[in-house]
Amino acid sequence: TDLVTLDPGFVNTASCSSAICYIDGDQGILRYRGYPIEQLAEHSTFLEVSYLLIYGELPTRTELEEFTHKISRHTLLHEDLKRFFDGFPRDAHPMPVLSSAVSALSTFYQDSLKPFDSNHVEISTIRLLAKLPTIAAYAYKKSVGQPFLYPDNSLGLVENFLRMTFGFPAETYELDPALVKALDLLFILHADHEQNCSTSTVRLVGSSEANLFASISAGINALFGPLHGGANSAVLEMLEGIRNSGGDVERFVAKVKNKEDGVKLMGFGHRVYKNYDPRAAIIKRTADDILGKLGGDDSLLDIAKQLEEHALSDDYFIERKLYPNVDFYTGLIYRAMGFPTKFFTVLFALGRLPGWIAHWREMMNDPATKIGRPRQVYTGHTVRDYKSLSER
Ligand code: CMC
Repeated sequence: TDLVTLDPGFVNTASCSSAICYIDGDQGILRYRGYPIEQLAEHSTFLEVSYLLIYGELPTRTELEEFTHKISRHTLLHEDLKRFFDGFPRDAHPMPVLSSAVSALSTFYQDSLKPFDSNHVEISTIRLLAKLPTIAAYAYKKSVGQPFLYPDNSLGLVENFLRMTFGFPAETYELDPALVKALDLLFILHADHEQNCSTSTVRLVGSSEANLFASISAGINALFGPLHGGANSAVLEMLEGIRNSGGDVERFVAKVKNKEDGVKLMGFGHRVYKNYDPRAAIIKRTADDILGKLGGDDSLLDIAKQLEEHALSDDYFIERKLYPNVDFYTGLIYRAMGFPTKFFTVLFALGRLPGWIAHWREMMNDPATKIGRPRQVYTGHTVRDYKSLSER
């Protein structure tokens, strides 16, 4: 134990080697498998990026067609799994519903319990990519008391998800191409981010040779927290709070700086980025355009922009190198798309899924992998003798 180094929050400890995602936090650079996020955002699609992250290369046309076809054949949920949704309260938060249903996939697909069999890993990968959007849509339908829609496998992944979420059985759902494109872009931007809290969780759980579903379910729970994926909902609640109390942005910033009631500027700051988060930069550039097309709430966007302007010219934020992160503008877009605030983090999970899968698979194939088992610095009592109840 003399050699143990204490590093709370793993600020400076690498837990693995990885070839999936590169971040330069000082310069604000993000690349998936070497490809700059800006290029992928402009030219690629979420399914193509998923393939890239998981298999290491951009797919050829045939590979992409096969991948898309396989995913479209696995979108259905087992009818018994559908009944799960009835067991939760109507007002349940959709994140634990999502993680519970993913955990339950291990019971329906028991072949998944062999984490070293490449055929089983492959089919589990496809099942997860295909079924998570269906699970997410059903969590939404349950919360609003509407009937579940079966997936329509002639549609793409994002289209299918939107239809299952917002469509009705007796009506044709008119897909809005602007909405599809915007959600696909947001999924690309969320698809991976190296050893963040949820991905590290997926790896840690998987390092015990727990299967893919169990590991991803744990990752979803890690993402739930407001300092991680839950920040996108928290940002919107913060913006609404500011608007509802008169829209005084300066007063709110002062509150944050004085650390009153532990208030933080949600959607700001990042462990790795000490510069503008490149994902936030892309989202900000497209926010006006997307909100214009979708008819978003301008008053909240105004408050967000004012907050950013104030923060970026304030010493408190400058000294601490706090910039907007990926969650700062996404909530406004999700809201304009029609999603309730509680649902935003589910959308983050849908986007992050291929990254989690890629890391789990990379870890399982890495001969250097050992079970994750951090050490500690013990601060408790030295040895002492037991006292009987009458002596205490
Ligand atoms: N508002 C106000 N002050 C902040 C903020 C913020 N959002 N973030 C950090 N600080 C301050 C913090 O109080 C500390 O100040 P001091 O030195 O006076 O104690 C200093 O900046 C350094 O912060 P830290 O807490 O040591 O930084 P960290 O790397 O441990 O935390 C973070 C990173 C993302 C958890 C944090 O910045 C935060 O809580 N941000 C708000 C929540 C948020 O937006 N999370 C989403 C992150 S991006 C997507 C994702 O990961 O899901």
